[in-house]
This record gives sequence, structure tokens and C-alpha cells, in this order.
Amino acid sequence: MIETATKPAVTVETASLDSIATPALILDVARVDRNIARLRGRLSDLGVQFRPHVKTGKSVDVARRFFPEGSGPITVSTLAEADYFASHGFNDITYAVGLAPEKIGRASALVAQGVDLTVLIDSVEQAGALADAAGRGVAMPAVLIEVDCDGHRGGLLPDDPALILIADMLRDGGVALRGVLTHAGESYACRDGAGLPEAAEAERAAAVGAAQALRAKGHPCPVVSVGSTPTAHFARNLDGVTEVRAGVFVFFDLVMHGIGVCATDDIALSVLATVIGHRPQKGWILTDAGWMALSRDRGTQAHPVDQGYGLVCDVDGVPFGDVIVGDASQEHGILTIRPGSTAALPELALGQRVRVFPNHACATGAQHETYQIVETGSRAIVAHWPRMRGW
Ligand SMILES: Cc1ncc(COP(=O)(O)O)c(C=O)c1O
Repeated sequence: MIETATKPAVTVETASLDSIATPALILDVARVDRNIARLRGRLSDLGVQFRPHVKTGKSVDVARRFFPEGSGPITVSTLAEADYFASHGFNDITYAVGLAPEKIGRASALVAQGVDLTVLIDSVEQAGALADAAGRGVAMPAVLIEVDCDGHRGGLLPDDPALILIADMLRDGGVALRGVLTHAGESYACRDGAGLPEAAEAERAAAVGAAQALRAKGHPCPVVSVGSTPTAHFARNLDGVTEVRAGVFVFFDLVMHGIGVCATDDIALSVLATVIGHRPQKGWILTDAGWMALSRDRGTQAHPVDQGYGLVCDVDGVPFGDVIVGDASQEHGILTIRPGSTAALPELALGQRVRVFPNHACATGAQHETYQIVETGSRAIVAHWPRMRGW
């Protein structure tokens, strides 16, 4: 029986993939543990701390697979996650989304309750708002300045003069600068592993360059934080980096498979669906898992292998091959043969069950309230793990 961190522990003696209501979110815990061990081993060899991003699982039970006990370190993407994980004993938390000034009060409340919280900024306006709050005697989180390593989203270029200006404002306002953070989001544009070592090196160089610029002006910069699942798995050298963040690697998905980071049998998350109809003249098999269960994420659309709304497997999680969810409406999935393939649709009777690997595990997980936990190769549901949601 799998241990459940949430109390009361909910365990199920008889439920199985053949009997639970569908659609349902299935998590193969042995694959989760294997994915964690793989990245932990890499980062340990590279000599950096691991700060997993718990936004993928949004579950204390998943986070406890990283940290069977103890308080982190973890990365979160919302203050609701910070509240939730703090209430479960995690107190070393980096909130890695740019801080809205109106959220300073909530961040401060977490600090006041003993959480070692770090927030992320990339503007003088945010630095000013934090300095103002510190001036009012509010309990302050530590700060990382976001650095742009690849033009993906927010952050300052490592040589932007605003980097030093922000650090000066924080120091003068009595707010602790902890360091710099970057996220190589453009690594998701790589395919089949090509370009990933280079993306990892660009991520490292940008973060270390910004840290050096700050230190040259007398600012402390103890934390140099980088990370995305693709770069974390392909970095060859992390000199100057102190910690790596990664999130989706814990479950993996078809986008990561298309980028070349994992095999399909590393994918721990799937959606269990039931066949509800056939349209042989159209080459369709209908299921009860539409985009409400799978999400509307079409992250493999621009990949050489477009997986539609997901790759279809038998109930034991073995892919049929070229069968994908070719289209989806709210509560219908339409199973089809991948365009260009000469394969035939499998014989799937009404009521038969299939599993669907998701394009993007974070998005698919977010459609559900509970994980149904299985072990690889077994149909028994050994636990239910709740997920948190909200902002
Ligand atoms: C700031 C930040 N760090 C780390 C991650 C983790 O990236 P991945 O899910 O590729 O591991 C994300 C994901 O969006 C992020 O926004």
C-alpha cells in the first residue's frame, strides 16, 4: 500500500482500473520515483542543489516523493501553493512568478508565520513597492531578480543597468537580495534533444553573468538559480550555479518526449477513459474523455509527431502505436489513426477502457481533483491523492 501524506490517509482495497469511474487521472508512482531519482542523480553529479517546482503535481503526496520528510526546498507558481505547502510543513519556498505589488501582504504573512519565502522581481517598480513595505515594518520575503536568458518571457538581460539599480533600491530599502533566477523556457522549442546542451549553457551563462555583475557592485548574490526540465536533463556543466528548478519531469509528457527528454514509458500520468461509441465510416472510436479531462493543450501540434490531444494506450498503459486522440469536444474524445500512418484502428469494444498520455502533464493534471495511484504493470488503485488548486 502506498503511503499517503495527506490525512486522513485514504486507501482503497478493491478499486482497479477496470472498475473506477471514468474519466480519471491515473498516476504511476513507480515512474514518478524513477523520474525523481534520475534527475536527482544528475544534479548531485553536477554538484548543485535541487529545488523541484511543485506546480506540476500540486500535491503534498507527490512532493513527499521528493522529500519523505523535511521542509523543502521547493519552487511554487502561486501563493496558494505556497500557503498549501507551508501548511504541510514545507518552509523553504521560492515563489517563481513575478510579484504583483498587491501580493506583498500575502507574502509577508507567510514570512511572519516562519516561512523562508523568496519572491521574484524584474523592475524598479516592484523593488520600490517592496522597499515601501519594508519601511512600514512589514515582515519581508527575500528577493531574486529575474534574468532573461533566451527572450522567452520576463526578466532583465544580464547587462541591463536596471539590475544594479534594483539591487541598490532593495539594499537602501532594507530588503534582502538573495540572488538571481532564470528559466530557459525557449528550450521547449528544441526537438529530439538537438540544441539542449547549448540552451542549458546559455541559461547558466546568463545567470552567472548577472550574479557577477551584482557582486562586482558589492551586492551579495548567494543564490544563482536556473532551470527547466529540458535544460536540467542536458546541462553538462553548472559552474557558478547554486540550484536547479524543474517541474514537469516528475510526470513527463508527450511534449517532453517530442523534445527528446524522455521515452513514452517514462510518462507517469495518464487519463483513463471508456469507449462510448464507434463511427467506422469516419475511422473514429469515441470515448468519454474530452478536453475537460485531457485539457485543450495541443503542445505537440508544431512537433514532427503531432500527438493530437494525447497518445492512446491500452488499459495497462502500453501505447497502441499510431492511435491518438485526433479531436476532442468537452466530454468526447475521438480516437483516430495518426495522419500518414497505415495502421488500423484497434478493436475496442463498447465499455472497454484505454489510457491517454497527455501533451502537457501540468495542464492535464489541473483538470482533475484527485490522482488514482497505481504501480507499473498493476491495475489495482493503491491510493487516492488529492490535488490543490487556486491562486
Ligand atoms: C520560473 C520557472 N522555473 C522552473 C520551471 C520548471 O520548468 P519545467 O516544467 O520545464 O521543469 C518553470 C515552468 O514554467 C518556471 O516558470
